[in-house]
Amino acid sequence: MLRVKPFGIYIHWPFCLSKCPYCDFNSHAVAQVDHRRWRAALLAELDHFATETPGRRPGSIFFGGGTPSLMEPDTIAALIEAARGHWSCLPDLEVTMEANPTSVEAGRFQAFRAAGVNRLSLGIQALDDEALRFLGRRHSATEALTALELARTTFERISFDLIYARPGQTPAQWQDELARALVLAGNHLSLYQLTIEDGTAFSHQTIAIPEDDDAVALFETTQAMTEAAGLPAYEISNHARPGSECRHNLTYWQGGDWLGIGPGAHGRLNGEAMTQERSPGDWLTNVERHGHATATREKLDPAARQEELVMMGLRLATGLGPELLAEAADVLDPRGLTRMIEAGFVIHDASGLRATPSGRLLLNAVLAELLI
Ligand SMILES: C[S@@+](CC[C@H](N)C(=O)[O-])C[C@H]1O[C@@H](n2cnc3c(N)ncnc32)[C@H](O)[C@@H]1O
Ligand code: SF4
Repeated sequence: MLRVKPFGIYIHWPFCLSKCPYCDFNSHAVAQVDHRRWRAALLAELDHFATETPGRRPGSIFFGGGTPSLMEPDTIAALIEAARGHWSCLPDLEVTMEANPTSVEAGRFQAFRAAGVNRLSLGIQALDDEALRFLGRRHSATEALTALELARTTFERISFDLIYARPGQTPAQWQDELARALVLAGNHLSLYQLTIEDGTAFSHQTIAIPEDDDAVALFETTQAMTEAAGLPAYEISNHARPGSECRHNLTYWQGGDWLGIGPGAHGRLNGEAMTQERSPGDWLTNVERHGHATATREKLDPAARQEELVMMGLRLATGLGPELLAEAADVLDPRGLTRMIEAGFVIHDASGLRATPSGRLLLNAVLAELLI
C-alpha cells in the first residue's frame, strides 16, 4: 500500500512579553506589534507556498513561537481559514497552539477555540513559584493551574511543558512535582531537562545544572513514573497516552514534509530544506516586497536526507519502521550498529530500528557510532 507522506504547516510567531533566561528560540520582547501588517504578511507567505504544494493534504497546523497566544484570534482564524482554502486538509486536522499561562492569554482561549485551534500546549515549566521566578516566567503556579483548568474545558486536546533538572532540584523534589503533574495531565506531557544554550542569559551566569549521573537518574525516574501513569515517552521529551501523540511533531520525526511560515521557520518540501529570514523586521519587509522571505533553500543530498531520517527517527520510542530504515540504510555503519546492539543501546528487528531508553538518553553518542 502506498504510504501517504505526512504534511504539516508550521507558523512561527516571534514575539513574547519578555525573554526567558534559558530560551534560545527566535523570540523577542518588543513594545508593540503591528498586528495588521503581521497578519497580512503571514497570509502572504502561506499563499506563496500554497502555489508550490497543490494537492498536498495537511494533517496538522502548528502555531509555535515565541508566544503565539499573543496573536490576535482573528489572525489565527484567518490563517486556518486560508489553509483550509488552499488545501484539502485531512478531516481530523490537528491545530496546535503554544500558549503561556498568563491571565491575558487565558482570557482569549475561547476565541482561539472558535478560530479553530483544537490542541493547546501550555508552557507551565514548573509547579512552584520560586522555580518559576528562577526561570524568569511571568506567571505564578496558581495562575498556571487556573489556565490549565480553563484549557481543559475549552480545547479537545491539551498538553503542558515542564522543565526539570533545574539547579538544586533534588530527585525527591522532582518526583513530587512530576507526581502532581501526572494528576493534572491530560493525554500529553512534554518534559524537558534544562539545557544552557549559548547566547542566553543563563549562559552568562553560573548555573549549576545536575551532573551527568544525576541527570540520568532524573531521566530514568521520569520514564518510570510516566510509564506507570499511562503516559510513556514516545519521544525523548514527549509523553502521551497511545493515540494522543502530537501528529505535527511526528511529521518531523518520521521524515514527512512541512511548510515553515514566519521568521526563522524551517521547512522540508519535496527533498528540499528551506529556512525563512530569521530577523522579524527583515522577514516582514521581505514578505511585503516579494511575497515570501525565504533565506535558504537547497536540495538535500541523499546522504543528508538519510542521516536526518536516522537522527530524527531514533528520537522516537518506535524508532524507524522498515520503510524508513530501508530508505536510510546507506548511512548506517554495520559495525557500529552491531556494537550499539551489543551494548544494549539499539534494537534491530522486523519492526525496524529503535533506540532503547538508555540509548535515547545518549542519542548523540549512539548516532556517532551508527552513522558512517
Ligand atoms: C518555544 S518554547 C515555548 C513557547 C511558549 N512561549 C512558552 O514559553 O511556553 C517550547 C518549550 O521548550 C522548552 N524549552 C525552551 N528552552 C529550553 C531550555 N533551554 N531547556 C529546557 N527546555 C527548554 C520549554 O519547556 C518551552 O515551553
Ligand atoms: S520560553 Fe517561551 S515565553 Fe520564554 S522567551 Fe522562549 S518562547 Fe518566549
